[in-house]
Amino acid sequence: MEPQHVEGDIEKVLLTEDDIQNRVSEMAAEIERDYEGKDVLFVGVLKGAIMIMADLSRRLTRHVEIDWMDISSYGSGTRSSGVVRIIKDLDMDITGRNVLVVEDIVDTGLTLSWLVSNLRSRGPASVEICALLRKPEAAKTAVDVRYVGFDIPNSFVVGYGLDFAEKYRNLRVIATLAPHMYS
Ligand code: XMP
Ligand code: MG
Repeated sequence: MEPQHVEGDIEKVLLTEDDIQNRVSEMAAEIERDYEGKDVLFVGVLKGAIMIMADLSRRLTRHVEIDWMDISSYGSGTRSSGVVRIIKDLDMDITGRNVLVVEDIVDTGLTLSWLVSNLRSRGPASVEICALLRKPEAAKTAVDVRYVGFDIPNSFVVGYGLDFAEKYRNLRVIATLAPHMYS
């Protein structure tokens, strides 16, 4: 299918709809194998993870529970600082649960490392991370992302849940923005 409304704003499509869907299927199969016989709770991070959560969870052939957290990370401009505030907490108690955090992208990893230690303090059986995208910076941090969709270059990307000023989340592709958009 043709990517919709990919016009002058978009510089380059990095991942097509097929690239994303094929990889998400592989990730779902891997997760299903790893959690065989165990219950798992998917915890999505709003809002960027909405698309990966919807597609990944529907690829599973078993039941899964889904909950969401909304967190905001203080930082200068586009850089995160690791100082995080909870805007919406989980509805569920995760004590004794196997938690899989579902994220759109890991950049510095500061947001996720804060989130993982916050979740661990609640006494879950396990906490693992699944992220669709990983930028090169993430390799330098301690955060261990168990399931990674794609390693991408260090440029700002939008689409498939990821936004620029709340736009482009509904693109079916992952793309870089044309420089005139943020200059
Ligand atoms: P850290 O650096 O803590 O931050 O791993 C991850 C969060 O930063 C946002 N982020 C992006 N959002 N395009 C986006 O739309 C990007 O290229 C990008 N890089 C980082 C995102 O909210 C992610 O959860
Ligand atoms: Mg995010």
